[in-house]
Amino acid sequence: MTQIVKTYQLGKEESIDVLKWVDIEINKGEFVSIMGQSGSGKSTLMNIIGMLDNPSKGKYFFDGADISDLTDDDQALIRRENIGFIFQSYNLLPRTSALNQVIMPLLYQNIGKKEREERSIKALEKVGLADKMNNLPNEMSGGQQQRVSIARALVMNPSIILADEPTGALDSKTGVEIMELLTELNKEGKTIIVITHEHEVDAYAARHILIKDGNIVN
Ligand SMILES: Nc1ncnc2c1ncn2[C@@H]1O[C@H](COP(=O)(O)OP(=O)(O)O)[C@@H](O)[C@H]1O
Ligand SMILES: [Mg+2]
Repeated sequence: MTQIVKTYQLGKEESIDVLKWVDIEINKGEFVSIMGQSGSGKSTLMNIIGMLDNPSKGKYFFDGADISDLTDDDQALIRRENIGFIFQSYNLLPRTSALNQVIMPLLYQNIGKKEREERSIKALEKVGLADKMNNLPNEMSGGQQQRVSIARALVMNPSIILADEPTGALDSKTGVEIMELLTELNKEGKTIIVITHEHEVDAYAARHILIKDGNIVN
């Protein structure tokens, strides 16, 4: 991304630049953290990287192609094929089994029922939840729920995983397990981008991008 600016209009005349002039380059297969205090612009940046939001100014090149001027629908296609999201709050559906949570993103694809199930079972096995397929979220620990959300990201076979404070709601031992899982996925070739304000999480990354008040400072 070059010269990315994100401005929010607060009133008729007042606005704030939440991202001020962001230049970053992330290469395939990297494990990068984006580190900064609360309110520094991390989630705003993640939403732009993940094509969930557009910058006010600047250019974003994905896989070499300028995607800045694509329509939301075209961006959504690129997003679905390439990026898996993990959030602090897991974002699971309350009355849905682990297996059905993971099947969900495949329903929008042209994939038969049997293959949907096979791929979802494989993804849940991958994150160590072979014995929790039929559990509802409230029948699982926080760490297990986060693993379901990781399986849901993996089932689409993304090349990139974007994780926004993935251990923020977990105790430190469970947080370590989640970060080790992300490390393993990185070793298998996935690009991992983790947003955090915790040093323990930051330490897993091979490269650290420091953001302060909407500027990359290191
Ligand atoms: N929709 C919005 N309108 C106005 N200000 C916003 C909006 N979203 C975020 N902000 C502001 O942008 C700044 C950065 O927010 P955010 O990216 O969520 O930070 P972080 O994830 O680092 O805590 C904060 O000051 C926040 O209040
Ligand atoms: Mg945030």
